Amino acid sequence: MSEPTLPTGVERREFDGKTRLATRGPPVYGEPTADGWRAWDPERSKLSGMIELGFDTGLSGGETVLYLGAASGTTVSHVADFVGPTYAVEFAPRPARDLVGAAEPRERLFPLLKDARKPRTYAHVVEADVDAIVQDVATRGQADVAARNRQFLADDGRLILAIKARSEDVTATPADVFEGALDRLRETYEILETQRLDRYHEDHLGVVATPR
Ligand SMILES: C[S@@+](CC[C@H](N)C(=O)[O-])C[C@H]1O[C@@H](n2cnc3c(N)ncnc32)[C@H](O)[C@@H]1O
Repeated sequence: MSEPTLPTGVERREFDGKTRLATRGPPVYGEPTADGWRAWDPERSKLSGMIELGFDTGLSGGETVLYLGAASGTTVSHVADFVGPTYAVEFAPRPARDLVGAAEPRERLFPLLKDARKPRTYAHVVEADVDAIVQDVATRGQADVAARNRQFLADDGRLILAIKARSEDVTATPADVFEGALDRLRETYEILETQRLDRYHEDHLGVVATPR
């Protein structure tokens, strides 16, 4: 099977003689840059890892995105480099300060200091029918967070999710945790693709899904 094409605005570029995924925008966290492009490291970003692993994310560039678990903006800054309006939800004030810094030179990146388990608190800000939800909250109840935020997603939209096993249950095997999370997700979403991200992120499952 051929690899899905990269979204417009994501390219493979040379950095110090190595070909790496990259987006074009102001640097955020000391990542290597060349000719205005920023290396997008699959070991620092689950979404970059999913693209490297050949997931069909459905992203082609220019989409409206709701990003849950933005932390200090490492991944969401790359996302905002190649999509359209990007709503970035993060509930911890410390990383959110850096997120605000990453958003400053990015006109279409909107940081929201909100709890992703309480979508009602940001429903008045996020536009309806977003094209994609990207979720990396690494907290207990990851499938539940995805289910609660389904209301923002267009019927043909994509949920692009990373599930961290240890955030759900440190004692259970990751395979069991993933099975339970997928069962919960299936109440709201049709699962299109799953793959372990271990090559870049230990005990994480990547999931692409669409609303049922
Ligand atoms: C693994 S980190 C995210 C890394 C980030 N996605 C990146 O690649 O740059 C998980 C983040 O989710 C945030 N988080 C966890 N539960 C959350 C919730 N209920 N609402 C909002 N943010 C949450 C944590 O504070 C943390 O910053």
